[in-house]
Amino acid sequence: MSASSSLAALEQGLLADIAAAADLAGLDAVRVAALGKKGSISAEMAKLGQLPAEERKGFGQAVNQVKEKVAAALEARKAALESAALAERLASERADVTLPVRPGPEAEGRIHPVSQVLDECIEIFASMGFEVAEGPDIETDEMNFGKLNIPAEHPARQEHDTFYFGTRPDGSRLLLRTHTSPVQIRTMQSRKPPIRIIAPGRVYRCDSDQTHTPMFHQIEGLVIDETTHMGHLKWVLEEFCKAFFEVDEVKMRFRASHFPFTEPSMEVDIGAEAIGKPGRWLEILGCGMVHPNVLRNCGLDPDKYQGFAFGMGLDRLTMLKYGIPDLRAFFAADLRWLRHYGFSVLDVPTLGGGLSS
Ligand code: PHE
Repeated sequence: MSASSSLAALEQGLLADIAAAADLAGLDAVRVAALGKKGSISAEMAKLGQLPAEERKGFGQAVNQVKEKVAAALEARKAALESAALAERLASERADVTLPVRPGPEAEGRIHPVSQVLDECIEIFASMGFEVAEGPDIETDEMNFGKLNIPAEHPARQEHDTFYFGTRPDGSRLLLRTHTSPVQIRTMQSRKPPIRIIAPGRVYRCDSDQTHTPMFHQIEGLVIDETTHMGHLKWVLEEFCKAFFEVDEVKMRFRASHFPFTEPSMEVDIGAEAIGKPGRWLEILGCGMVHPNVLRNCGLDPDKYQGFAFGMGLDRLTMLKYGIPDLRAFFAADLRWLRHYGFSVLDVPTLGGGLSS
C-alpha cells in the first residue's frame, strides 16, 4: 500500500471511530489513540525522519491534514455529545413547579401559641407607635420592688411569692423578677420622655396550679410625656382589646384597685362575649397612672411628666383567645399539644393580613 493510501485508510478509520463514540469517555479514548504520544497519527509523524528528503515535505503536509481533520471531527463530536448529555440531564431533572409544596420541616414545625400571641401583641402596639423594650430576668430587689415604690416590709413583697437568690455582701439581693414592671424603671432611667414602650418577657412566682405556673409571661406597657392622661390609657387598652380579640366592640370594666407604683390603679375586665361566652367578666390586666414617687425615683420631675403603665398576662390572653384550658400544658413540651394548638411557621400575624387566620 502506498503511503498516501495508508494515510487515507487511517483517516477513514479514525473518523469512523469518532462517529461511533457513544459518550465523552469513549471519544477521549479515540483522541488518545490517534493524537496521544503513542497514537497512530503521532506514529505517522515519527516516520518522517526515515523518509528521503524529497518525500518529507509532501508526506508531512499529508499527515498534518489528517491530523487537522481528525482534530476537527473530535471537536465537533465532543460538542454534540456534550449538548446531548445536557439535554438528557435537563429532561431527567425536570421540576414541575405547579406541584404542591412537599411537606418538609417548615410544614412540620409549629410556633408556640404564646410566641404567636406575643407577635400579635407587638404588631398591635407597634401600629400605635410603641417600641419593644427588654430587661433581664434576674433583677435586684431594688429594681423589682424598691424603685417601684414598694419599700422593704411592704405587704406587696410577700404577695409576690418571690424566688430569691442569696444576699450579697452589700446587703442587696438578687431575685427572679416577679413582674415586667422593673423594665419601666430601666427605661425611665436610660432615656428621656416622650416614652412609649411595651416590654414583654418571662416573670417568676413561686406558685403552681391549673392557672398558675412558676414561670409565665407578661407584657408591660409604659407611656410618659407631659400631657398623657387616663383617657389615653383607656383608649389604648380598648383599641388593643378590639384588635387582639378581632371584634368591633368590646365591653370593658375598669375596677379601682391598688398597685404601689400607680395612682390611681385599676384592674380591667373584658366582657366574655369577645371570646364567644356572653354574661361573664374576665380579668385581663392591671394598670394605672404612674405614681409620682416612681417618676421621682427615676429622676423625672412629676410636676412636668406624667403617664400610664399597664401589665398583662400573655399566657392568660393566649388561653382566652384560643380556648386553651390548662396553663401547665404551655410548658410541658408535649409535641401532641403543640401540633394541636401551635401555629404554622408561615402564619405570621399582621394587621393588614389578619392577626389569626
Ligand atoms: N406589675 C403588675 C402585676 O404584675 C401589673 C401592673 C403593671 C399594674 C403596670 C399596673 C401597672 O400584677
